[in-house]
Amino acid sequence: MAIARQRIHLPPRAWRRALAAWRGGRLWEGEATARFEAAFAAAVGVEHAVAIPSGRAGLLFLLEALELEPGSEVICCAFGYPVVPYLVRERGFDLRLVDCEPRTLGMDPAALAEALSDRTKAVIATHLYGVPCRIRELSELCEARGVTLIEDCAHSLGASVGGRPTGSIGRAGYFSFETSKIVNTMGGGMLTTDDAELAERLRKCASSEPPHGTAWLRKRLTKTSFETLVTHPWVFNLAVYPALRLASSKDRFASGYAPDALTTAGRLGRYSAYQAELGLAQLGDVERRAEARRRNVHRLRERLRGQVPFQEPDAPDVVPNPMLSAALFEDMPRVARELLARGIDTKRDYMRDCSALLDQPGHFPVAVRADRQVLHLPAHPELSEQDMDRIAAAVADVL
Ligand SMILES: Cc1ncc(COP(=O)(O)O)c(C=O)c1O
Repeated sequence: MAIARQRIHLPPRAWRRALAAWRGGRLWEGEATARFEAAFAAAVGVEHAVAIPSGRAGLLFLLEALELEPGSEVICCAFGYPVVPYLVRERGFDLRLVDCEPRTLGMDPAALAEALSDRTKAVIATHLYGVPCRIRELSELCEARGVTLIEDCAHSLGASVGGRPTGSIGRAGYFSFETSKIVNTMGGGMLTTDDAELAERLRKCASSEPPHGTAWLRKRLTKTSFETLVTHPWVFNLAVYPALRLASSKDRFASGYAPDALTTAGRLGRYSAYQAELGLAQLGDVERRAEARRRNVHRLRERLRGQVPFQEPDAPDVVPNPMLSAALFEDMPRVARELLARGIDTKRDYMRDCSALLDQPGHFPVAVRADRQVLHLPAHPELSEQDMDRIAAAVADVL
């Protein structure tokens, strides 16, 4: 049996809940959203959580609610999700990139120290693939200069640093609940902060979004059901794997099963009470699934010790929730191709070197290397020890 790069799950009883919520008139508005926000704030250890239509919408709301002067400098990491720096620039801020560091693949504190100036008003630090970046050092640097630190926690629900959950360390954090994320509410996300005034402004942004209609709901349910189907081991083996083998020479399925676009299209609108119900049903399971991911990545790392470098936390008190494993290979495209031929599907090109956005391609050497070398080996919670051993053996074989 071939092993898929990821496994998507339709949220628990998504269709049945949709029907019940529609009949009960609580699809769009209802107390579930407030309950989900409260439970999420407690899980992250912050005073306020605000439900949002997507991670990127959370970033936009923050940029607005922080009331930064137009043209203020905002610093992002050169290696990351291109939509983030793209939106910063699109909103009229002066985007500045700094390099990542090789261990966590997050923003390099030394590079940030060099880049910070009186013009810098905000820094966006991402905990890539669920491994926290060196946020304590980044936070100290920002605090010393009075700069707002935003945590991009799109991948990192359930991860912590010195006992503090990600999303509770900077002035604010944003999470994503897209289908492949730690919590999947078929889109959506959450903003977290201890700052009551900021939370109030963020809530205004979120509640001024128009509610969705049933066409949106049908589309999201259908899309998520499709993703659930094609990542199911049987369907994957019968239909998707053969298609990937045929398409592999063209790298058509480079990232997920469709490339992400630099856009907010389809990612705005009001977070619904129905989605909040889906989120509430998953929060209690985050830690159990995180433990399974950690076990799987640990096993891969142990089996490939000395042969393959992996992204890893920078200190013993940093606890990741590895949404994706990230291994680095000198000749990544060849490794991906040969693993696929051995029945191991992998994910690549999800995060990118964003320097091309600034016409500075190749300017940040660690980001360039990560862009060329990072490959996500399957490590999702459903995989067994035997699966992990098989993946490690296949990697050792192709090296
Ligand atoms: C690091 C990172 N930040 C932000 C986002 C945006 O989240 P969303 O897709 O919910 O808008 C993503 C999405 O994959 C991401 O990977």
